[in-house]
Amino acid sequence: MNIDGKPYRTILPAADGASVEVIDQTRLPFAFELKRLATLDEAAVAIRTMIVRGAPLIGVTAAYGLALGLRRDASDAGIDHAVETLAATRPTAINLRWALDRVAAKLREVALPERAAFAFAEAGRIAEEDVESCHAIGRHGAAILADLHKAKGRRLNVLTHCNAGWLATVDWGTALAPIYVAHEAGIPVHVYVDETRPRNQGAALTAFELNAHGVPHTVIADNAGGHLMQHGEIDVCIVGSDRTTASGDVCNKIGTYLKALAASDNRVPFYAALPFSTIDWTLDDGVAQIPIEERDAREVSHLTGRLADGGFATIEVVSPGSPVANPAFDVTPARLVTGIITERGVASADAEGLLSLYPERRSEA
Ligand code: MRU
Repeated sequence: MNIDGKPYRTILPAADGASVEVIDQTRLPFAFELKRLATLDEAAVAIRTMIVRGAPLIGVTAAYGLALGLRRDASDAGIDHAVETLAATRPTAINLRWALDRVAAKLREVALPERAAFAFAEAGRIAEEDVESCHAIGRHGAAILADLHKAKGRRLNVLTHCNAGWLATVDWGTALAPIYVAHEAGIPVHVYVDETRPRNQGAALTAFELNAHGVPHTVIADNAGGHLMQHGEIDVCIVGSDRTTASGDVCNKIGTYLKALAASDNRVPFYAALPFSTIDWTLDDGVAQIPIEERDAREVSHLTGRLADGGFATIEVVSPGSPVANPAFDVTPARLVTGIITERGVASADAEGLLSLYPERRSEA
């Protein structure tokens, strides 16, 4: 999508296959900086420290990271080491494991000297497929927004949580793709952006990308969504997902579940938008089975921001000595999800709905 009229992607491979360039998302929204990743360890650090984040983007970065690792050691042991290193970086988003498994499975058939180049090309194919999937999610989701707009006959107010925009993917995004497609089709869409404590991906990243692309929006405190829904100010919620079970339970950024509860109480439709690579067909009970990443307590106890003089500062906001917990994701049970918007269309949030879009999975169900 665009920054000041110029199209960007979140990850760009170097032509010689020796590195990739990513947007450093820890510096947004105040500084736009690119970072070059040239080794397995640099890719792993970028994922762990959230220089790159968002389920589809960490999958693509991991695939490139595997390729970079193979430039040093292309043996079977080298593949195993790279996969283990990258898989350990973040446990919840299944796209990471999916991308690594896809590349690693094909690699065993490739001769050693060609493995690094093959993996780099395969990572590129995953990236291109992600762009196509997200654009298709945008078209299917925009049809929902167009219908809602017709029914309401006024500006459409959409609430989203965290950042599931183009910065979380290679381009377009998942939850924000329908908004971009609708915006480009002339449908008046206004986005309410949850700030998304503790890391503030909404306030920092979603607001940045909507601003840069010219989509009207308002940032709200995480606690404001229920109030706005009670007062009829939200027409629809759209969120992304880091892992969705075969039964339609949606795991996403911490706080998503509370928004789904408020949406259900106020009869506001609640959609999750995600590509096939986010569906974990091996699970059917998200609350019991999805591993939830516990992140550093400092993300809750401290805040980093820009000072009036343009400098940056990190400040403490929690009473010193108080214990802090930081679960990074939660699971919204399928019963609270109106529909799942995928690249193949919109499914009901249940096993039959998902299988009707992915009939090739029926044999595994
Ligand atoms: O911890 P993050 O910033 O990687 O979490 C991102 C999210 O929870 C997104 O909503 C999710 O990955 C959907 S991505 C399009």
